[in-house]
Amino acid sequence: MLRDLAKVLVTEEEIKKIVTKVATRIENDYKDKELVMIGILKGGAPFMMDLIKQINLPLVIDFIRVESYFGGTTQGELIFRKDIEVDIANKHVLIVDDIIDSSRTLKMVIDLFKKRNASSIEVCTLLDKPSGRKIEYTPKYIGTTVGNEFVVGYGLDYDEKYRNLPVVGVLKEEVYKK
Ligand code: IMP
Ligand code: MG
Repeated sequence: MLRDLAKVLVTEEEIKKIVTKVATRIENDYKDKELVMIGILKGGAPFMMDLIKQINLPLVIDFIRVESYFGGTTQGELIFRKDIEVDIANKHVLIVDDIIDSSRTLKMVIDLFKKRNASSIEVCTLLDKPSGRKIEYTPKYIGTTVGNEFVVGYGLDYDEKYRNLPVVGVLKEEVYKK
């Protein structure tokens, strides 16, 4: 698996530091607030699982799985594969994802949670890829920023594989030709 990487962008050590730093900020920002952390499956799961263990608050977790389709317009359609099961009305929602690219999917999830009357909605992402934006959005919590390249590992997949890599990296050209 690791052999398929052309380069490592974020090491295990760096990921650990990111998790601790972001978890500390979240813990401070959500003291005395009812926090619901919602992971976006499947990519956001590893980051979410590492984060929650370092946040010493009585938080609630849930997961959502969505797919979005865009027919040439920015007005896409959100298809739910799995909805959340907790009631987020009057709760402080923190969405956890692996990477924010175009931010179109994310925007639709935020709009949905707004309709469900969440008190606040923020986003926490391991990686930010600002060069991919189709809709302007700046997540409050960003682990680190990546350039305009396709990355895998620690939740991120290529053809459903490489999610279990302990690092984030770029695949060798030859992998795409297989
Ligand atoms: P978007 O921000 O609506 O474009 O959606 C971002 C989603 O696309 C992420 O949650 C990933 O599942 C996927 N994605 C975007 N960029 C990458 C990448 O470089 N590697 C793997 N998945 C990616
Ligand atoms: Mg994703």
